[in-house]
Amino acid sequence: MLLHHSTWPEIETYLKRSRGVVIPTGSTEQHGPTGLIGTDSITAETIALAMSERCGALVGPTLTLSQAQFNLAFPGTVSLRPTTLIQVIIDYVQSLSRHGFEHFYFLNGHGGNIAPAHCAFQELYADQSLGKHSGTPIQCRLRSWWDFSEVNEIRQGLYGAAEGMHATPSELAITRYRLPEVSCPDNLPAPPMLSADFIKRHGGDNHAHALAHRAQFPDGRVGSHSGLGLAEHGAALVSAAAEAAARDYLSFIAGGES
Ligand code: NI
Repeated sequence: MLLHHSTWPEIETYLKRSRGVVIPTGSTEQHGPTGLIGTDSITAETIALAMSERCGALVGPTLTLSQAQFNLAFPGTVSLRPTTLIQVIIDYVQSLSRHGFEHFYFLNGHGGNIAPAHCAFQELYADQSLGKHSGTPIQCRLRSWWDFSEVNEIRQGLYGAAEGMHATPSELAITRYRLPEVSCPDNLPAPPMLSADFIKRHGGDNHAHALAHRAQFPDGRVGSHSGLGLAEHGAALVSAAAEAAARDYLSFIAGGES
C-alpha cells in the first residue's frame, strides 16, 4: 500500500489498524558508467514495496534526494546539504506524526543518508525530551537493505571483494531486475580493489569533496565490479531483503528497540 496512491479516508482507515509507516530513502547520483542515477532510490523503493506485500505496511513517498556532494563532479547528480536533508526528514516525520503515525521505519539504499537520518532522529527525540512534542511519542529506525545477514551472505557468495562500495554489482543487479528496459550493457573490466582500511574509513559515504572524489575514482565506481550484477541476482536480493526487513519492521512496531 502506497501513501501517494491512497486517499485520505484510506489513510484514516489504515491508522485504525496500524501506526507504522515505511519510508524508502535513496539518492540521485552517478552510479558508474552503466548504473542508473536513481539506483539507490529504485533499490530502496523496490525492497520497501516487496516488504509491504509481506507485512502490510504503508509505504510513504521515497526520499529520492539525499546528500551526495562527493558525486557532484559527475553530470546528473543532485545533492542536498546534510543540514537540508536533516530538516526534510524532520518535516516528513512531524507531518505524519500530526496524523497519528508513531513508528517510522526508514528502508535505506544510500550510505550518505545514514548520518543525517540519525541526526534527524536525535532532533525529534530532543523535542520529546524537552517537552516540545505533543501527542504520542514517536520512534524511528533506519536499516539499510544490505544490513541484513541473509542479504550479505548472497552478496559475499556472488561477488566477494568485487562488491566494493559504490555502483556495486548487488545494487545494479536490483535495478537490472526491476527496470530491464532502461538497463545498460556492462562489459566494464574490474576497477582497482579497495583496501580494508579504505572501506573502514569511508563507510556511510564519508568522502571528501567532489573533484577529489572524481580524480580518485574516474569512472564513478568505487571498487565495485558492476558488470557482475545480473538481473536474476537482483530477484534473489530483493526477496531476501524484503523478508528480513518485514520481520524487522514487525518487531519494531511491536515495541522492539530502535
Ligand atoms: Ni548506490
